[in-house]
Order: sequence, then C-alpha cells, then structure tokens
Amino acid sequence: MFADKKKASRIAIISGKGGVGKTVITANLAASLASNGRRILVVDADLGLANLDIILGLDPKFTIKDILNGARTPEEVIMRTPKGFDLLPAGSGMVEGTVLTVELAEKVESLMNTLEYRYDAILFDAGAGIGDVVLFFAKLAHEVLLVVTPEPTSLTDCYATIKLLKQMHGRSDFLLLVNQANPGCPDQVGTSVANHLQRVISQFIEPKGKDVSVQLIGSIPSDPAIPQSIQRRQLLAHCNPQAPAASSMNSLADFLHRRMAS
Ligand SMILES: Nc1ncnc2c1ncn2[C@@H]1O[C@H](COP(=O)(O)OP(=O)(O)OP(=O)(O)O)[C@@H](O)[C@H]1O
Ligand SMILES: [Mg+2]
Repeated sequence: MFADKKKASRIAIISGKGGVGKTVITANLAASLASNGRRILVVDADLGLANLDIILGLDPKFTIKDILNGARTPEEVIMRTPKGFDLLPAGSGMVEGTVLTVELAEKVESLMNTLEYRYDAILFDAGAGIGDVVLFFAKLAHEVLLVVTPEPTSLTDCYATIKLLKQMHGRSDFLLLVNQANPGCPDQVGTSVANHLQRVISQFIEPKGKDVSVQLIGSIPSDPAIPQSIQRRQLLAHCNPQAPAASSMNSLADFLHRRMAS
C-alpha cells in the first residue's frame, strides 16, 4: 500500500450515487484506525456540501478554504477530534457546483503533499456523483474505496464510476465496500454484489475490462444504530459499540490496518 513508508496512504471514498453511507463509514473507520494507533487525517472532500463535522458533533471555526486563500495555516484549521483522528473541515458552498479551478486544484494538491508526512493515512470523504471535485480527489488518491449498496441504482452508478476512472485515469484496481446489506447475511450479499460487478466490468468495459479488478474488503449490514448515531452526532463505537454495523466497521478497519503494515 505504501510506495514510500514515510508518506501517508491516500484513500478516496467515493460511490457515484449519493447517500450510500460514505461519510458515516469514513468517520467510523477513521476512529477505529486511530484507536489502533494509526495517525489519520480525514479530509472533507465534499467541498460544496460538507457534513463530516456535523456527524462528528464538531463546530469548526475555519475550513480548508481558509488555508487555500492564505488566511490560516493548516495547523490553525485542522482539528483534533475527540476520537483521536484529525479532520480538515470544508465549508458549504466553497466551490460553485462541482467545478474545481486549476488554481484551486494545484493548491489542494500541494497542501496534501505537505500534510502526507504527518499521517499514516489520509481519507478523502468525497461527495456524491462523479463531477470534477470527485474525479480530482480520486486522482490524488493511491487507492479508491467504492461504497455501494445492493440497490441496482447504486450498482449502476458504481459501474459508471469505475468505467470513468479507468478511461480518464487508467485506474484498474478498486476496493469495494458493500453497505446496507441484508442484516441476515451481509457477507453473502457482499460477495454476490462484488461478483456481479466484476462480471459486468469484464463484459462491458472495453477494450481492457479484464484488467480491472474490484476487491471486496467488507460488508456492513443495514442497521438502525447508524441513523441513531447520526441523530446523536456521535460515532457508532461510542453510542452503540455492540451494534452489528459497529463490528463490521471494526473488521474493515482491521483489514486496512493490516494492509498499511504490509
Ligand atoms: N448501514 C447502514 N444502515 C442504516 N442506515 C445507514 C447505513 N449506512 C448509512 N445509513 C444512512 O444513510 C444515510 C446517508 O449516509 P451518509 O451521509 O454517510 O451517506 P453519503 O454517501 O456520505 O451521502 P452523500 O453522497 O450525500 O455525501 C444516513 O442517514 C445514514 O444514517
Ligand atoms: Mg457524505
């Protein structure tokens, strides 16, 4: 996972379809990795409609915008969350729609280059869709973690995202996380979703669909404890550590933790 052990691994969490659970998974994953001793920075990459701070019950004074326009230093903006990881918050309405100017993109990239020596991993919580901002963060990342639900709409958008990232960036390897799986058999659902996606990719992505691979790294069940935790603006591990989704998140974090060590 690490080309250079001193630099953070950048992971973009994206989905195509909105509302599938990227933000809640990123926040819980970051907390779990931090509790395992990893130095984690979460970047709210949903520049236009940021809401990680809301999920975390935080009220940031400054945002990435203040760093990019030179008004504040990264040290003044990055917040240490009570869960042991750092958050680079974004504001609302920072980028018009999903358009990222070349100048802004260069500034974000150079900011990430300066931050990556301080962390083991930097997680980008991307927004919905496959607009400029999402594509930019996907390109900046070493790994793309696709979050899907078993719904056909989510799978179709996930496939479209893979196809675009293959065509535009030449990306061939994707990590897959199936969320909101049937709580009775989440692992079977995950496997069947991953197999289905892999089949569709091999069949339809031309000319080299066969070299595109999707690696299933976890399945999280539908669990009422998740909306309850968001309502309370707390993480799952804090307000309901026994919930089935909490244990799936921990398994996912263990997987990434081990991967970082290898
Ligand atoms: N495993 C789950 N079980 C039940 N509800 C879930 C689960 N995962 C996510 N949700 C619910 O789905 C909703 C969307 O979650 P979240 O905001 O994390 O999605 P998102 O992908 O970040 O959305 P956006 O694309 O708008 O950024 C939340 O209301 C959350 O409670
Ligand atoms: Mg989100």
